[in-house]
Amino acid sequence: MYARITGTGSYLPARIMTNADMEKVVDTTDEWIRDRTGITQRHIAAAGEYTVDLAEHAARRALQAAGKKAEDIDLIIVATTTPDRIFPSTACLLQQRLGIHGCTAFDVQAVCTGFVYALGIANNFIRAGSTRCALVIGAETLSRIVDWKDRTTCVLFGDGAGAVIVEASDEPGILSSHLHADGSYEHLLNVPYGISHGVDQLRTLDAYITMKGNEVFKVAVNTLGRIVDETLEANHLKKSDINWLVPHQANLRIIQATAKKLSMNMDHVVVTVDKHGNTSAASVPLALDTAVRDGRIKKGETVMLEAFGGGFTWGSVLLKL
Ligand code: COA
Repeated sequence: MYARITGTGSYLPARIMTNADMEKVVDTTDEWIRDRTGITQRHIAAAGEYTVDLAEHAARRALQAAGKKAEDIDLIIVATTTPDRIFPSTACLLQQRLGIHGCTAFDVQAVCTGFVYALGIANNFIRAGSTRCALVIGAETLSRIVDWKDRTTCVLFGDGAGAVIVEASDEPGILSSHLHADGSYEHLLNVPYGISHGVDQLRTLDAYITMKGNEVFKVAVNTLGRIVDETLEANHLKKSDINWLVPHQANLRIIQATAKKLSMNMDHVVVTVDKHGNTSAASVPLALDTAVRDGRIKKGETVMLEAFGGGFTWGSVLLKL
């Protein structure tokens, strides 16, 4: 029994914020942002548009692509760092939107690795026989937790959602998943306050993303290099067996370093960071959906998904589409 992705979907908020728009907000330039990150623009959720709204659009598109109805779903996992409420989970809010009742639904918090974690978990549910049809989503409104006065972070992030339908199948689908974390790196990338500080306290604290960018960069490149090796070794595959790399979209230079590690031509690497910025847990499913819909990734091809994020967390999923 395999878990196989049978449909993908994604959604980006209508408002596009270009680097030129950024120049009006903080002391930066289009050239600096492009050179250091590859980002040219990002999408920003409208006032009153929340994570579950983005997730619902992406979910409906994935359902349509898979030819499934909402009532076919028996597991919902939403990976998000920006849930709409303290509770219920975004997965429960989404379940209600989709008009389904009773199935397992929960959120996963692994920051930018969240979708890879969620897909690995769904794979295990399906292989254990407790799920037939899972809806797995990465959805974020990162623009709500960046400090719009901090040029070192606010230029990097964007909002969006990506979704997949994962079904039990006799045909090979997900071949392996590899999930890791090391909390000792917490100080390099975090939001320093959360809900256990108390709602009243939180109002007076700077609960924004903080990051030591160049230190994160170095660890990310090394760690992603290792996860590539681990994934190939676990599957007894050579680099040349991988048709597509769908990486987390944080920085074009990090993506290029991972592609180099795989000896992979950039033509076989899906890049959306230029248009989406870093959408955290949404970035991998957004990139996957982009390349499936434009016909680049075809059924039967071998695809490596990988991500790295706050925690630190990191991981990969190897699959046949
Ligand atoms: N516009 C213009 N200048 C900026 C700037 C901006 N938006 N942000 C920072 N700078 C300046 C800094 O103040 C610094 O100036 P100084 O040399 O006078 O002190 C200079 O640019 C270099 O800063 P540095 O942080 O060393 O740049 P960098 O080459 O490391 O690039 C990042 C910064 C954030 C793009 C890069 O480190 C990165 O992408 N890191 C990984 C981040 C990441 O992936 N995070 C998410 C993980 S999921």
